[in-house]
Amino acid sequence: MTSEWYSASAPGKFVILGEHSVVYGKPAIVLAADRRISCSVRRSDCNTINGLPLDIEKQPHLRYLTRNTEYPLDVITTSDVPSGSGMGSSAALSAAMALAIQLEKGCTKTEKDFVDEAYGAEFFAQGGGSPMDASACVHGGGIAVNIPDDGCRELWSITRGDRTWRITDIPVPDMSFVIGNTGIRAPTGPQVDKVRRFSKKTTFAREIIDEIGDITIEGYHALKRGDKDILGRIMTRDHKLLSILGVSCKELNKLVNAALPYSYGAKLTGSGGGGCMVALTDNPEKVADAISSRGGTPYIIKSGSEGVRIENEPASGNALDIPMR
Ligand code: PMV
Repeated sequence: MTSEWYSASAPGKFVILGEHSVVYGKPAIVLAADRRISCSVRRSDCNTINGLPLDIEKQPHLRYLTRNTEYPLDVITTSDVPSGSGMGSSAALSAAMALAIQLEKGCTKTEKDFVDEAYGAEFFAQGGGSPMDASACVHGGGIAVNIPDDGCRELWSITRGDRTWRITDIPVPDMSFVIGNTGIRAPTGPQVDKVRRFSKKTTFAREIIDEIGDITIEGYHALKRGDKDILGRIMTRDHKLLSILGVSCKELNKLVNAALPYSYGAKLTGSGGGGCMVALTDNPEKVADAISSRGGTPYIIKSGSEGVRIENEPASGNALDIPMR
């Protein structure tokens, strides 16, 4: 069977402040990055991924996203978002795939529908987590989660169990960020689970989560004022708090320490345990060199990229290494 391809792409993201504590309904600030995942789908005789046979039962994101599709699909995914690295690769994949599948079906959906699909796929695959990544990868630009109402436009609000996440659109700051990838892949689920077990066991861990929430609000005000000194200091403090929660590692600490002499502040970004760190700096080239010299891979980021969007050409480039179970 030869059918038409339908294609979409979505950006990766980085977290300025608030990962992990956002899972408990605390605030977070996130920007979309200029690295994207693309996905193309077409109706087929049997499920394939990047040209190879696909057992859909083994890929939870695809299984969730195709739960209402009654025929097999050929799927192509390409990416310049490193996977399992804290840059939201699975949310970007889910967002791009949700849009590509809707295009194939010819129905019209809203941004909020794609967030529900992408968050649903993430939750199904990870067994937990917040809608922060899905919201950032679908909407693009900059978003804040659960920031006390300051007049920013509310995009949507999502409730699961006893937690609600209110997502607002924030202006993308005129600031330079450099991401450093340790090259260590660390899936999100086990890191979220680690913090959950720690927070169930001790009030100390719950106090750390509260403190991350408090400094994220302070950081948000610094971001709005354009105060890089304060924001950077808060980012570095956040890294220390995340380290206490047990989600940093020596490779992340090494890259954070390498970046700090040329930065306002630096921290791990995403779920940690490996993956990436991010630095706020006026010297991106120097920070990039410092990251390279300590064995990391730097990405000088243009933040605030467009969210999920239709692509006219089928996905091509580096095939995404999709997590299987
Ligand atoms: O590592 P990533 O890109 O999947 O980011 C995870 C962010 C967490 O706050 C740790 C989890 C979540 O669902 O919000």
